[in-house]
Amino acid sequence: MKSTRIMLLVAAVAVNVPVVAMAQGKGKAPAASKAPAANKQVSRGEFLVKLGSCNDCHTPLAMGPQGPERDMTRMLSGHPEQMKLPPPPAPQGPWIFAVAATYGAWSGPWGVSYPMNLTPDKETGLGSWTEQNFIQAMRTGKHMGQGRPILPPMPWQTIGQLPDEDLKAIFAYLKTVPAVKNKINEPAPPSGGPPGGAPAGGPPGGAPAGGAPAGGGAPAPKPGGK
Ligand code: HEC
Repeated sequence: MKSTRIMLLVAAVAVNVPVVAMAQGKGKAPAASKAPAANKQVSRGEFLVKLGSCNDCHTPLAMGPQGPERDMTRMLSGHPEQMKLPPPPAPQGPWIFAVAATYGAWSGPWGVSYPMNLTPDKETGLGSWTEQNFIQAMRTGKHMGQGRPILPPMPWQTIGQLPDEDLKAIFAYLKTVPAVKNKINEPAPPSGGPPGGAPAGGPPGGAPAGGAPAGGGAPAPKPGGK
């Protein structure tokens, strides 16, 4: 019996310590960490969000004095909507993925995906989601738990293995972070046009939307053909 108690104690300590140690990037720490232990569920959620590296993909990178760092003033708000992206580079050989400099746009065989705005903004973030939407999305890999498939590299397969209490804690914490209004692009289909589908100055001859392979229709011969 004693050992069970010790285990519990160790677990409790482990949950509380790393929150401070893992603060990173510029700007202020999230509001939640200012009220230590005010809400156990929220601090558990904060811990899991940091452990689960949600910031890696969902907080944009910005240039700092020492190179790119997480822009914590826009914590968890996804790729900044003002930053328009050109179409992703065509995959070549084994180099099949590309990621934008903000870490907020990912190109691969699935098309282009944009990590969701996880802040509680009503229109552009999780503000209108229910806890059930969130849990179901992580469990089923479907958008909001019922829509289209959630695309890579969102690791819902592993996050979705957490028990309900932990998923609820993550959701509770996400509700406490500062809301940032930032509209996330819809994902673009594979080998489609530029994100959002606007054929802004695409390849000459305007390749029809949907399925033109990279370089399709371009008469230029391959350089260096043997
Ligand atoms: C490796 C990058 C990556 C990591 C790490 C990551 N995400 Fe995501 N996430 C994404 C991408 C990309 C999308 C958009 C997928 C899409 O549009 O289908 C996304 C979408 C989501 C969505 C919206 C799902 C839906 O129903 O449409 C939620 C919620 C989410 N992530 C939560 C989290 C949480 C919580 C964590 C950490 C525990 C996390 N993500 C870690 C990349 C990531």
